[in-house]
Order: sequence, then C-alpha cells, then structure tokens
Amino acid sequence: MPVSANSHLDFGYLWWLNYGHLIVVAAAGAILLLGYKRKWSKWPMLLVGALVLWSSAAFLVTRFVIKVNGRTSLPTQSFLRSGAGRVLDIGAGTGRSSIMVLESRPQATLVALDLFGESFEQHFGRSDSPQQRLLANLKAAGVEQRATIQTADMRKLPFEPATFDAVVSAYAMDHLNRQGSIQSLAEAARVVKPGGDFLLMVIGNDPWAQFAFGPLLKHGGTRGPAWWTGRVQEAGFQVLEEGTRPLTLYLLARRL
Ligand SMILES: C[S@@+](CC[C@H](N)C(=O)[O-])C[C@H]1O[C@@H](n2cnc3c(N)ncnc32)[C@H](O)[C@@H]1O
Repeated sequence: MPVSANSHLDFGYLWWLNYGHLIVVAAAGAILLLGYKRKWSKWPMLLVGALVLWSSAAFLVTRFVIKVNGRTSLPTQSFLRSGAGRVLDIGAGTGRSSIMVLESRPQATLVALDLFGESFEQHFGRSDSPQQRLLANLKAAGVEQRATIQTADMRKLPFEPATFDAVVSAYAMDHLNRQGSIQSLAEAARVVKPGGDFLLMVIGNDPWAQFAFGPLLKHGGTRGPAWWTGRVQEAGFQVLEEGTRPLTLYLLARRL
C-alpha cells in the first residue's frame, strides 16, 4: 500500500474508547425525555439525569484529557537527555509512542517493535498489514527515515545484549500476565546498554481513569506503582523517577 507523505496521523484506537460514553448519553437522555413526558416522580428522574451528566463529563474527559487517539509527549524530559542514540520501542502498535520519542529526540533513531498479533487487533481492529499502518503514521509524522519496524515478541527480543542506548514501552507490557510482564522487563534490561534509560508507561488507575471507566478498567497497569517499581528494580534497573498523567503511570529507570 503506497503511503502519501501528506497523509494524516491515525493511531486507530477503537472507537468505543473515545466515543463509547456517547451511547450512554443517548440512551439515558432518551429515557430522561420519556420520563419527563410521562411525568415520572422526582427520584428516578434525578437518577437518570445524573447518569446523563456523568456520561457527558466522562466523554469530555476521555476525549480532551486522556486523548487516547491523540499525539502525546514524553512524560519526563530526563529520558534520553543526550538527545541522540538508538532507541527500542517495545509494543509500538500504530506508532504513538515511537512518534513521541522521535519528535522529542530529533537526533535519535528507533526500532518500533510489535508482535502485530491478537493484542494489536484488539486495540486497533483487523487489518491486512498492521506494519503498514505503523509505517503510514511514521511517514505522516515525517520520522520514518529514523525508524525501522520489527515484528517480534517482547518476551524474547531478537537482539544481542546491550544493543540500545534507551528503551521505551508504553501501554504494552501491562497487556501481558504478571509472568509475561516480568519476562519482558528482563528482556528490556538485557538489550539496553549499562547506564541506558528505560521509560515505562502503563495504564494507571488514577482519579481520571476511575471517573471515566470505573470498574471497567481491568488492566495489568492497575497492579499499582509498587508492583511495577519492584519488578523494574528486580530486572536490573535503578528507578530514577516515578509519576502520573491522566490514565498513566510512568517510571524512568536506568540500567545498572
Ligand atoms: C495499547 S498498544 C500500545 C501501542 C503504543 N505503544 C502506544 O503508545 O499507543 C499495545 C501494543 O502492545 C503489543 N503487544 C502485546 N503483546 C505483545 C508481545 N508479546 N510482544 C510484542 N508486542 C506486544 C500489541 O500488539 C499492541 O500493539
């Protein structure tokens, strides 16, 4: 599939992550209207009214605060401070995290690695060539000259030890079970050079996430900061920084 240099970024996260709350707004709004016409009593009307208010607010939070499908920036400027070097993006998906690094670090090159399997389909839908979707976004961002795409499993990376100056992984290692996350952290530690940076971003169960998704947010990221910090340290990193942003927990670590 030829990709135009002028095509737009489309990370392609499934529609319901951005617009799912609108279904609740529409359904609850219709019930509210019906109740108004049929002169329901105060309490059911208040209850349905509250549901309309919450789902409208949750839609705005998802769309404009969390911005699942939007461009994102590095959560910490301390990552790859030198600005140059070879970076590995583990679980690159359709390129959001790769573009985040390549745009912030214009001297860096990057390997965008993903299994492009079942998990990719769950997030981005079926497509004949998921790699082409990633490439299209790298081209749309104008960073494709500094990136290569690699298909592989993050639990068994196809690289020699100490190959990369830095490693990033965003919302990917938390899609594996505990054992898988531990394996992928060990692989990240193996392929990064001693002294190299590791930026881990996982889904965080913060107040924004709780407000928008409540108990529906079942995710490895929600194992909590202590679990992730402990496993990152056990893999052979020193944790330098820990922080949050809406729906996100991030750790910046350095290979010992
Ligand atoms: C939620 S997406 C994150 C994509 C991207 N990093 C971002 O920030 O938008 C998770 C990605 O992890 C990938 N993934 C899941 N399990 C994997 C594995 N065992 N090895 C490599 N990639 C995997 C999926 O294919 C998917 O593209």
